[in-house]
Amino acid sequence: MTAIDMPVAGSRPKPRMHPLAVRVMHWTNAIAMVVMIGSGWKIYNDEVIFGFLHFPQEIVLGIWAQHALQWHFFGMWILMLNGLVYLAYGLISGRFRRLLWPIRPLEVVREALAALTFRLKHADLTHYNAVQKVLYVGVMAVIIVQVITGLAIWKPVQFSGLVSLFGGFQGARLAHFIGMALIVGFMVVHVALALLVPKTILAMLTGGPRVDPAPPTTPPAH
Ligand code: HEM
Repeated sequence: MTAIDMPVAGSRPKPRMHPLAVRVMHWTNAIAMVVMIGSGWKIYNDEVIFGFLHFPQEIVLGIWAQHALQWHFFGMWILMLNGLVYLAYGLISGRFRRLLWPIRPLEVVREALAALTFRLKHADLTHYNAVQKVLYVGVMAVIIVQVITGLAIWKPVQFSGLVSLFGGFQGARLAHFIGMALIVGFMVVHVALALLVPKTILAMLTGGPRVDPAPPTTPPAH
């Protein structure tokens, strides 16, 4: 513990970059997402959208489609409940405002170019760079749409309004597939970046450095 991290006598220690709740929710989400993708691929194989694309049995979850569907619903409830608590926590605690905001387009372009040429530094674990901010906010938005298209193709009669938003059942199915591809793309980039800076993985496991708590959402009354 450095002098900066030392709590003042009588005061509470500063919180960690990734509080326990965030770590538990992050890894729960990662496992649920793998279950969703693996079982989704098996369900897809039962009636493919693209004739050339079948997912090999070695990388899917489920022995037959109905079995995969049970895994998919199991993963779905965990992903949805975990995701709702994470979103509420991020909004109420000020975590999203502190770490994911603001996103400046010029910074995103500059840092994306630096990342592509392996010049992007991630020395300060307590801040996300503009590329990370876009990726995290982006994947959250895609997951929300993914839940909506999932509901539409699960109960097309009850959620007919949602189905028509996507131009019909096949449109919703295609949007669900594209959402899966975007999430898989995110995961490949995300895990590769994390492996390039392994101390970020350690921080997501142990909490990481201590940070100043989020400032109050409303200014104090005069
Ligand atoms: C085994 C797979 C995964 C690994 C190794 C991993 C690793 C990490 C690490 C190290 C961080 C912290 C980044 C930093 O401090 O610079 C992080 C944050 C994050 N990851 Fe992952 N991750 C995985 C899977 C996922 C999946 C599947 C998703 C969503 C689809 C996801 C979404 C996020 C988000 C949104 C954050 C920011 C969380 C916050 O600060 O509130 N991760 N991940």
